[in-house]
Amino acid sequence: MTEKDFIPEEGLKYPSSGKVAWKAPSNIALVKYWGKHPDQIPANPSISFTLDASATTTSVAFEKLDQPAERFSFEFLFEGKPKEDFIPKIEVFFERIVCYLPFLKQFHFIIDSANSFPHSSGIASSASGMAALSLCLLEIEKRANPATKEAYFQQKASFLARLGSGSACRSISGNLIQWGKTPSIAQSSDLYGILYPFEVHQTFKNYQDTILLVHKGKKAVSSTVGHGLMKGHPFAAPRFQQAHENLERLQSIFTSGDLEAFITIVESEALTLHAMMMTSQPYFILMAANTLEIIQRIWQFRKSSNTPICFTLDAGANVHVLYPESEKERCIQFIQDELVAYCENGHYICDRNGIGAQPIVAT
Ligand code: DP6
Repeated sequence: MTEKDFIPEEGLKYPSSGKVAWKAPSNIALVKYWGKHPDQIPANPSISFTLDASATTTSVAFEKLDQPAERFSFEFLFEGKPKEDFIPKIEVFFERIVCYLPFLKQFHFIIDSANSFPHSSGIASSASGMAALSLCLLEIEKRANPATKEAYFQQKASFLARLGSGSACRSISGNLIQWGKTPSIAQSSDLYGILYPFEVHQTFKNYQDTILLVHKGKKAVSSTVGHGLMKGHPFAAPRFQQAHENLERLQSIFTSGDLEAFITIVESEALTLHAMMMTSQPYFILMAANTLEIIQRIWQFRKSSNTPICFTLDAGANVHVLYPESEKERCIQFIQDELVAYCENGHYICDRNGIGAQPIVAT
C-alpha cells in the first residue's frame, strides 16, 4: 500500500448529518519509536502491546455546511466542556489528512472526547485520542461507502492516526502491533501499524501492565521536541539499527516464550530511550528519583523471588510494570507492598493487553 491507496474514490455520497463514536486504547511500546522524518515517517521500527483499560472515547457529530469551509469548521469538547488548547493540534491533523478525507471541509464537526484515565495522570492520551478521532472520521467515510472492507478500514484508520501522532497508529487493533519498515518483517510499513504476523506464545497473551503514576504533571519536554532532537544526535544511527535488531530478536522470543530474553530487550529499550534524551543537545531527563527507586526494587524483587517481572518507560517519569497474567497475584502484592509508596498520591492503573478499538453506538 502507498499513500495514494488511501485517497477515496470521487463522487461518494455522504449523509448530510449524523454522529459516530469509537473507543480506542492506549498502547505501550516494547521497542520504542524515537526519531522521525517528515510526514510522520518513523526513523526506526517499533512494536507495542495494545492496552485495555487506558482508553479514549470520542464521538463526532457532523452536519453538512451550505458552503465548504475555507479552513475547517469544528468544535472540540473534552469531557463535555469546550477545550481550546486542543484546537491547533486538531487543525494540524485535519490539514495533514484532508487529502485522504476530502469531506472534512464540507462539514461542521462537534468532537467530544473523554479519557478513562484521570485527566492529569501524566499518561499520554495522544495515541488513544488520535486513534479514536481517526476511527470516527473514517466511519463517516464508511457511511458513504458501506462496501469498505474491514482490512482496509483498519489499515486506513492506522494510517490516519499516524498522521495525528506516530504511536497512535499502534492503537487501532489488538494485542501486539508493529509499525515501521524493517527487513525481518516483510509486511511491515512506515505508513501504518500491522498485527504482529508471527506466532506469539501463550505467555504473551493477556500480559499485564500496571502503570505507576510517578509524576502526574505535564512533561518538561514533549515527545515531538524529543523526536526532533534525534536529528544530528551522535548515537542516532546505531540506535536506529539496534531497534531493527531488537525486533528481529523478539521474533524467536515471542514464539518460544523466553521471558528472560524478553525482559532483557524490553528494559534495555526503555533505558536506551532515556539515554537518547540524556545524550541529545540540549540534553534532558524525564525520569524522576522515584522512577529509579522503582526500577531498583523491581530488579531486587525479580532476583530474590525469581518472578519474571520487568519495567518499561514511556517519555516521562511513570513506570509501566509488565508481567504475565500467571504472575498477577504475586506481582500486585509486590507493587502494593513496595512500589505504590513511590507513586504520586499512591496512584496507579491496572491495565493489560487488549483487543483494540471498538465502535460505540453514538447517542
Ligand atoms: C516514547 O507518538 O507521542 O512513547 O509522533 O510526535 O506524536 P509524535 O510522538 P509520539 O511518540 C511516542 C514516543 C514513545 C515511544 C513509543 O510509543 O514508541
